Amino acid sequence: MTNMVRSASSALVCLIFLSVSGIQAADLPHFRAENGAEQLLVHGKPFLIRGGELGNSSAGTPEQADAILPVMARLHLNTVLMPVAWEQVEPKEEIFDFNILDHWIDAARQHRLHLVLLWFGSWKNAFSEYAPEWVKADEKRFPRAQSVHGVPLEILSTFGTETLRAESLAFRALMAHLREKDQEEQTVLMVQVENEMGYLGPGRDRSPEADRQFAGPVPRELVEGLTARRADFSPELAAHFNPQGSTWREVFGEAANEVFMTWRYATWVESVVQAGKREYPLPMYVNAQLPSPMERPGEYPSGGPHPYYLAVYRAVAPAIDCYSPDIYWPEFEYWVKRYEMRGNPIFIPEAKIDSAPWNALYAYGAAKAIGFCPFGIDSLQPPASPADPEPAIMQVYAAISGLEDMLIVAQAAGRTRGVVLHANSPRATQSVALGGYVFEASLSRAWSTGTLLANDGGMLLLESQPDEFLVVGSGLTVKMSRDPDSDTRMAGIASIEEVSRAGAGWTITARLNGDQSNQGRQLNTDPKKIRTYRVRLYSAFQ
Ligand code: DGJ
Repeated sequence: MTNMVRSASSALVCLIFLSVSGIQAADLPHFRAENGAEQLLVHGKPFLIRGGELGNSSAGTPEQADAILPVMARLHLNTVLMPVAWEQVEPKEEIFDFNILDHWIDAARQHRLHLVLLWFGSWKNAFSEYAPEWVKADEKRFPRAQSVHGVPLEILSTFGTETLRAESLAFRALMAHLREKDQEEQTVLMVQVENEMGYLGPGRDRSPEADRQFAGPVPRELVEGLTARRADFSPELAAHFNPQGSTWREVFGEAANEVFMTWRYATWVESVVQAGKREYPLPMYVNAQLPSPMERPGEYPSGGPHPYYLAVYRAVAPAIDCYSPDIYWPEFEYWVKRYEMRGNPIFIPEAKIDSAPWNALYAYGAAKAIGFCPFGIDSLQPPASPADPEPAIMQVYAAISGLEDMLIVAQAAGRTRGVVLHANSPRATQSVALGGYVFEASLSRAWSTGTLLANDGGMLLLESQPDEFLVVGSGLTVKMSRDPDSDTRMAGIASIEEVSRAGAGWTITARLNGDQSNQGRQLNTDPKKIRTYRVRLYSAFQ
């Protein structure tokens, strides 16, 4: 099945949920493709998430909401990603308690923030710590995955039918509660279902039911679903798919264990998502812990929604709206690109906080991301006094928020680009072409000694009108030339201004020329501080 067909099938799934719940699709947050760019619509308008994910233990009390959320608003976030644990909302079987969540929703509203809920259900980072005690204590009813040696693990088995029933019921109760509490205001925008799920340990789950199913044939629907999606295969899946086979080993060769686990987790999460959407069909996504180079499945959670076997999820889980990478590895751009599949909005729910400012610029500019979220955002504080420096992500979010309406339109029109560079990047310069010009960026250096002035740099480039560009960024020197693919004219800088924007009003803080533009030859962004520049270029025949 192609991506187009996948979008159609998700839309159909959505319609079915909507007709069951009686809620109008257009009234709830949802995704829409605009000119090939995926957008999140909230109250009917495109919305860019300037997000941050809280630490795992930061959202367990109402008092934490009161302490943390005002700070998040001052950091210029518009959305906070917060855990909601199964054990917290269902401490006793079928007795639900949403008081803490309700307090967070109320507090978020007070500070004009949105929330994305992270449903820590049967799995959080492969393990099952967040399942309620009554689940964890009853291994017979809620079976555990087993190791190669037959030892039960702290990981619920994907073959626990009672576990799936119980979790679906809890998730359904959560979504029904959200519908009651939040349908009008829509403080909660999306829900992440599970967290970095997958099996940790060599091979696969060896519980008796897992062994029995692994010994049997691969389900026909899976083989057919994959065969129909062959055009979308990752190189890893393409190298391992033999639809003529029957057993898992015959069909998937040495990837059999991992694809088997992928099929289990995907099937499970589809059921949970469907149960939730029947009550309240918000967009729902799953996040992946990404394999690091040379890591074997089981060293990273095997069966999670990482790019190698994502086609399995797409074949069996049409109700999932979005697949999202948690990017802690240095190759940020590479991992984003692996999720740039048609019909998949780019949403980064977790990113390493140190490099977040520059990666955010890349995500919004190059990948048209609908949202970006450094992990552990509550570890940051706005400056105590105006003389103190602001955290760089706060500067990025302030700039993005000023340009939000322009950015949304430009993303959909293909008029944005992004660059990120680090001192240890494999290439010292990087070029992007936009609006008839080539922009060649390299990290800022002292003109006299050539030493680096910044170890990290990045920019979001936006074509605001012909020959006029906005650059949000820091740490880069950018040279501009005419794109030889456009014509043979030469290009020059007409003007560079440092600007800011509030509403429709622009403030020009400086006009940069002379030493500040290397005598009109380049844009020198500030080595440290994220700023917005308006660059006007001209083209002339020689
Ligand atoms: C990834 C997980 O998804 C988060 O919940 C958190 O545990 C971070 N890792 C910690 O680095």
